[in-house]
Amino acid sequence: MQDNDRFTTLGRLEDLPQSYRDELTQLNLVPLWPSLRAVLPPHVPTRRTQATHWSYQKLRPLLLQAGELTPIEKAERRVLVLANPGHGLEKMQASAAMYLGMQLLLPGEWAPSHRHTQSALRFIVEGQGAYTAVDGERTTMHPGDFIITPSWTWHDHGCEGNEPVVWLDGLDIPMIRFLDAGFAENGSAASQIVTRAEGSSYAQYGHSMAPVRVDSQHGSPFGKTSPIFSYPYERSREALHKLEQSAAVDAWDGVKLRYINPLTGGSPMPTMATFMQRLRGRPLIVWTSESAADTVRAVRFADNVIANPPGLRP
Ligand SMILES: [Fe+2]
Repeated sequence: MQDNDRFTTLGRLEDLPQSYRDELTQLNLVPLWPSLRAVLPPHVPTRRTQATHWSYQKLRPLLLQAGELTPIEKAERRVLVLANPGHGLEKMQASAAMYLGMQLLLPGEWAPSHRHTQSALRFIVEGQGAYTAVDGERTTMHPGDFIITPSWTWHDHGCEGNEPVVWLDGLDIPMIRFLDAGFAENGSAASQIVTRAEGSSYAQYGHSMAPVRVDSQHGSPFGKTSPIFSYPYERSREALHKLEQSAAVDAWDGVKLRYINPLTGGSPMPTMATFMQRLRGRPLIVWTSESAADTVRAVRFADNVIANPPGLRP
């Protein structure tokens, strides 16, 4: 007997007497066999994530309009969520495991301090003069920078420049929701007190060196998450350009580097891997985040944010 034959012969819900089904429902019981194929899909995964493209050119005016329509005090985080239609817009997830949103901060505004169990990453899209503060240290946000907020660390954002600042947020919200483990606290002050000079974390961990008596098992300030919370684009860009000129460029990937936790060599955050990529012959910087079997790509300078369904190699 072929597999395909075996996969067609299970009983259906409507084959059962209504009285029996009602009795099961009253006792919070469900027969497995009518849904077995959905629970254990034959041969290939069932994927709800649809290949989706969000044009930055199209969403940018709407994001700026949100700045006029809703003051930051009424938003806390002024974000347009990139919602994948395959999951339903109300689920507000870009893919099965990742949430993405475009956040806007206008000059003079700040997004107040809070913390949550979800981990967050940010790729800065445009604008100068804003900062993110994480656990008492501020970092100035420049376009192209990769910034992380480890789970349960206090963080806030402020815009002290004279132009709007936009960044792409990526969080492991769907994964944490799956675990029923998502919650947040608001800080007592809008902006947290600065306790460390800007650049302290990068000085300690960002130069292929680490403080003595600190390793992945001992003394890491954020556990399994990277102790660097800001990876400057200036450095990433320099590496990509140098490699493009001096090393063999992969025909498929171009030059592609992964961000790492310097204490472990693994991903900066346990739940999301992140990359920066320069495609050969094309002036594109591609940010990629991967979580479980998901891939989302944000293409800077090229007006694209794309969520690819799992398993689809672009
Ligand atoms: Fe947050």
